[in-house]
Amino acid sequence: MEIFYEIEPLKKRLAQLRAQGKSIGFVATMGALHLGHVSLVEKSNQDNDITAVSIFVNPTQFNNKEDLEKYPRNLEADIHLLEENEADIVFAPAVSEMYPQPDNRQFEIGAVAEVMEGKYRPGHFNGVCQVVSKLLNIMEPDNAYFGQKDYQQIAVIRTMVKKYMPDFKGKIISCPIKRESDGLALSSRNQHLSADQRVSALLISKTLFKAKEMSDKGATQKELVDYIKKSIATDANLCLEYVEIADKDTLQPIKGDLPKNAVICITVYDGKTRLIDNILL
Ligand code: PAF
Repeated sequence: MEIFYEIEPLKKRLAQLRAQGKSIGFVATMGALHLGHVSLVEKSNQDNDITAVSIFVNPTQFNNKEDLEKYPRNLEADIHLLEENEADIVFAPAVSEMYPQPDNRQFEIGAVAEVMEGKYRPGHFNGVCQVVSKLLNIMEPDNAYFGQKDYQQIAVIRTMVKKYMPDFKGKIISCPIKRESDGLALSSRNQHLSADQRVSALLISKTLFKAKEMSDKGATQKELVDYIKKSIATDANLCLEYVEIADKDTLQPIKGDLPKNAVICITVYDGKTRLIDNILL
């Protein structure tokens, strides 16, 4: 596995590999890697000759300084895990390498970025667009893999690529959420949970699974939202930030009857840890 900290040598190496006819898969991460990330690396390994992984805690997507400072970092363990899982290239730049000057670009993504995370974390998606556009330009992958746990992020990235990167030839590939055997969605932030909070966190996925069951049996949108709010409120560690039932492509609220192509997105504070999850109906 080759490790790069600077853009230019990485680009040179990728150009060499491309000239040898090798296809390149890319997995963007902020480190603190877990089996969810590993599943993206595995998918990329299946589909491509070369898998490149970036590890970069992107400061511009954090709208909360404490959250950025607290974000778990463990480069050595990450590199070890990637080596074990047969990634070929790791790119772990410093902030000064990615942002030698402040990035003042403002991405106009439209409605898909304005709801849910866009509403509760102002500036977050602009930061995601800044870093992902830079990374895609550096990597020029044939395929880029993103986890569906950040459901809205994938929709935002697809829109950004369409609108701002017309020459980008690669595919943006959405991969299923990876869960613990008890249902908890894997997240780097799970590391922050105490044993007690870890038990509470389980109620999030349990509630979503039950809501899907209710939806399959014909429950209305109001019944689902009422049930989810009540269920999360039963645990004293949990505080619901939002639950939205939205169109799975546009992420806009659904008026009237629930169609089949809806997604429930939820964000819950478990103590001080902000957890997100979602389920397709
Ligand atoms: O999903 C993430 O981990 C990040 O938002 C990403 C895509 C790596 C950009 O920093």
